[in-house]
Amino acid sequence: MAAHMPSSGPLKAPRALPTLGHFLRGRDVRLKTAALWLIGLVMLGLPACSKPGPALPPQVASGRQIFMANCASCHNANPSLDGTVGPAIAGSPRALVEARVLRQSYPPGYHPKRTTHLMRKLPWLAPKIDDLTAFLAYYKAQPQK
Ligand code: HEC
Repeated sequence: MAAHMPSSGPLKAPRALPTLGHFLRGRDVRLKTAALWLIGLVMLGLPACSKPGPALPPQVASGRQIFMANCASCHNANPSLDGTVGPAIAGSPRALVEARVLRQSYPPGYHPKRTTHLMRKLPWLAPKIDDLTAFLAYYKAQPQK
């Protein structure tokens, strides 16, 4: 194998291909400027790509967390859609959320979407009813999210 290796000194880049060194020493200033602009634009663009979008209002973000942990398993991670057992509930008014979550009931005169009685009450969520309602209202307004 060694017999086939070139014996004359270290490997050199072929003349026709400009090396990084050539580029940085720069004969073509316009090319260099364009390249720097391009690098700059890419660096500006990267953080924008990694962000999921504008932050949710704090109450909506809190409600979302509670919903994902306590409700999404039966309803749906997207509350505008029916879930495995529960119906779509985006836009549910506070009185309905409170009656369901705290008392396993419905507000007077409300016509339930389902005639089943599968949902259990989750009374420890009493301090979070407002956050849940805010989250459900937010998704009603922006169903695509
Ligand atoms: C064990 C599954 C389950 C869990 C967990 C659950 N739900 Fe339900 N939910 C249901 C089902 C099923 C219904 C339909 C009525 C019934 O069978 O109880 C329902 C109905 C509702 C309704 C009334 C829909 C309508 O307009 O008739 C609301 C509002 C609601 N759930 C909110 C919630 C919220 C908020 C949570 C979380 C804090 C939650 N649910 C957790 C299964 C569940």
